[in-house]
Amino acid sequence: MSLAAFPESVHVRAPGKINVYLGVGGRHDDGYHALATVFQAVSLYEDVIATEASDFTLTVSGALNPDTVPVDDRNLAMRAAKMLASATGYEGGVHLELRKSVPVAGGMGGGSADAAAALVACDALWGTGLSPHDLHELAARLGADVPFALHGGTAVGTGRGDQLNPALARGRFDWVLVTSDEGLSTPEIYARLDAHRAENGALADDPPLSLDVPIPVLQALRAGDPHSLAASMFNDLEVPALLERPVLDDIIKEGLHAGALSGIVSGSGPTLAFLCETPESAQYVQAALADAGRTALHVHGPVAGARIIS
Ligand code: C5P
Repeated sequence: MSLAAFPESVHVRAPGKINVYLGVGGRHDDGYHALATVFQAVSLYEDVIATEASDFTLTVSGALNPDTVPVDDRNLAMRAAKMLASATGYEGGVHLELRKSVPVAGGMGGGSADAAAALVACDALWGTGLSPHDLHELAARLGADVPFALHGGTAVGTGRGDQLNPALARGRFDWVLVTSDEGLSTPEIYARLDAHRAENGALADDPPLSLDVPIPVLQALRAGDPHSLAASMFNDLEVPALLERPVLDDIIKEGLHAGALSGIVSGSGPTLAFLCETPESAQYVQAALADAGRTALHVHGPVAGARIIS
């Protein structure tokens, strides 16, 4: 029997996400917008390895542009570890090794996945034993998408996107992602949406609209029907993302031409998510987009949330 009560190192994997539906309402006083969204976790993962240490340090690898990822308190995983330590009275530190596969600032919740993974890894490493409810509370304080990265699967998010209810989703959905070398800033895309709405007569701080996820989106997921889902996918952040990065519109057309059922900006972009009919058609679309010089990946969803893998 090992004398050590807890492991010296814990490896956690957390998924990136696509918003298959993202309706954005008015902006609250805290700067956040009311959302009605449906998240799906997909098979593109962040790996976080937490190792015992006396202070808090972090390294990043795997990202296309790792130098753009901060390694100090601006990093959401670092904030997650420190928040867990202060919430539980843990007095030591941790070294976090982030191995990134989800595009940085890509609209797929990579930073949120890192934070969720860091919470689960440090909780196991330190033996702080938080309940799922307490982990969810900390996650929601870290960012609107962090609770979903903990839970994974397919879920409806309301409030700021952090109030989750699982959605039934049958079978698997095949997606082709097209990533961009340069990310987009989420706050800037929300601000651009507000400006665009203001130009069209709406006020950014109007009382939040009553927001609901349309029934056809939920029915399509429940039926496992990619054709119906393709017809009902929608993202309010697509207009501001396309205004900011017009080439995305060309790439959407390329993906549709290659046979995708539908193409959408993922979250605040610039990653594009193409829904395909079958794994085979996704392979074809992926190859066609790669041949056209795009960085294209075939993934599937839904997959599980943050999990210890060793
Ligand atoms: O919560 P998170 O850090 O992921 O959000 C990043 C930014 O996205 C926020 O600072 C805010 O500008 C914008 N946002 C928003 N409304 C939401 C979620 C995010 O305006 N519901």
